[in-house]
Amino acid sequence: MKKILALHGPNLQLLGDRETGIYGKVTMRQINEELKREAKKLKLGIVIKQSNHEGELVDDIGSARKKGFAGILINPAAYTHTSVAIRDALLAASLPAVEVHLSNIYKREEFRQHSLTAPACVGQIAGFGLESYRLGLQGLAFALKS
Ligand code: DQA
Repeated sequence: MKKILALHGPNLQLLGDRETGIYGKVTMRQINEELKREAKKLKLGIVIKQSNHEGELVDDIGSARKKGFAGILINPAAYTHTSVAIRDALLAASLPAVEVHLSNIYKREEFRQHSLTAPACVGQIAGFGLESYRLGLQGLAFALKS
C-alpha cells in the first residue's frame, strides 16, 4: 500500500478558533479524520503531522522518500509565501506533492497571492475549506497512478 505524508504548517493547530470568518469552524482534528477516511477509500496509507517550525517541515520532507512515502500533501500555511527552504526541500524530495489551502489565497491580500512552494508541486487546490484537503488527496492519488 502506498503511503502519503500529510503536513500542516504553522498555526493550523489553531483552526476552529483562528480567524473563523476566513477559515471556518473546522478543526485540524476534523481535517485529519477526513483525510484518514479519504485515504482508506483511496487505499492509501497516511501519516499526518503539524509543525510551526520551518526546519522541522524541511526535515520531514527531506526524509520522506527514505521513510517510504510515495507522495506529499502539504498546507505550508504562511510558509507558502516565504519559504525558499520548503520549496527546495520539495524539489529535492522528487516525490509528487500537492499543495492545499483552506482559503482562496488568490482573492486575499497581495502578499498571499504568490506561492513559492506551488511550483515544486504537481498541483494546488485552494478555496474549498476542508474539501481542499480531500480534493488534494484525490489529486495526489491521481498523480501517483499516472
Ligand atoms: C492558508 C493560507 C495562508 O496564506 C495562511 O498563512 C494560512 C492558511 C490556508 O489554508 O488558507 O495559515 O494556508
